[in-house]
Amino acid sequence: SFMGEIMGLRVLEEQLQDTLSISNVIVVPGNSDAYGWVKQELGKACIAFLKTIVGEDSTIAVTGGTTMAAVASMMTPLNKEGTLFVPARGGIGEKVENQANTIAAEMARKANGDYRLLYVPDPLSESAYQSIIQEPSINETLEQIKSATIALHGVGDALTMAHRRKTSETVVKKLKENQAMSEAFGYYFDSEGDVVHKVRTVGIQLEDLKKIPYVITIAGGESKAQAIASFFKQGKSDLLITDEAAAEEILRGT
Ligand code: F6P
Repeated sequence: SFMGEIMGLRVLEEQLQDTLSISNVIVVPGNSDAYGWVKQELGKACIAFLKTIVGEDSTIAVTGGTTMAAVASMMTPLNKEGTLFVPARGGIGEKVENQANTIAAEMARKANGDYRLLYVPDPLSESAYQSIIQEPSINETLEQIKSATIALHGVGDALTMAHRRKTSETVVKKLKENQAMSEAFGYYFDSEGDVVHKVRTVGIQLEDLKKIPYVITIAGGESKAQAIASFFKQGKSDLLITDEAAAEEILRGT
């Protein structure tokens, strides 16, 4: 029955809060690996929640990926003054439609907000990095990113992400040797949540997450169960929005 289904999801949410030590979890029905519309359901849940926490003059930092693109596709007007969307980090190897810049701009358009973009080469050499962060226009955007009040981000399976980004063989080898399981914000984590590799780019660094008042993680699909569990070993996040298939697989212990 419909009520039974809803109650089943509530039970999954409570169990995940315990298992992942996270204060708030939302589980939507389905498996995003199998059906694209499940990502849109994650998106809808994200927007509905966002409306309960967004205030005036909020700065919302967003990452890239197909899940975040689905969140953007579901965005509706937020009816708040001074909402600013920014990409959480510079380029980390995604196609244009899945880049944080593109997603921030689309969210701003649909939410009737404003946006700032980050134009940084990808990947970034150490010397380019040092000079780029001194560019006034980039520096100004970086300040806005670092003072974000809300972050919306995806999580991926480590090797899936490394391949999608056409990561060098040397780095893939390093990820395998160190048993990388998950990726978020350009950081790769092992099953204990320790960082085993990091993509060099500007924007939110892991330590900056602690200062962001509300961090929302959006990731679903049975194939991401281990990745989600790995991220939450260390991840500072206030809310996980996931789907039933990922939830059940995480609780099975994967
Ligand atoms: O590359 C941006 C990013 O948010 C990654 O940090 C994350 O691993 C990935 O996208 C998730 O992508 P998808 O939602 O397509 O699985």
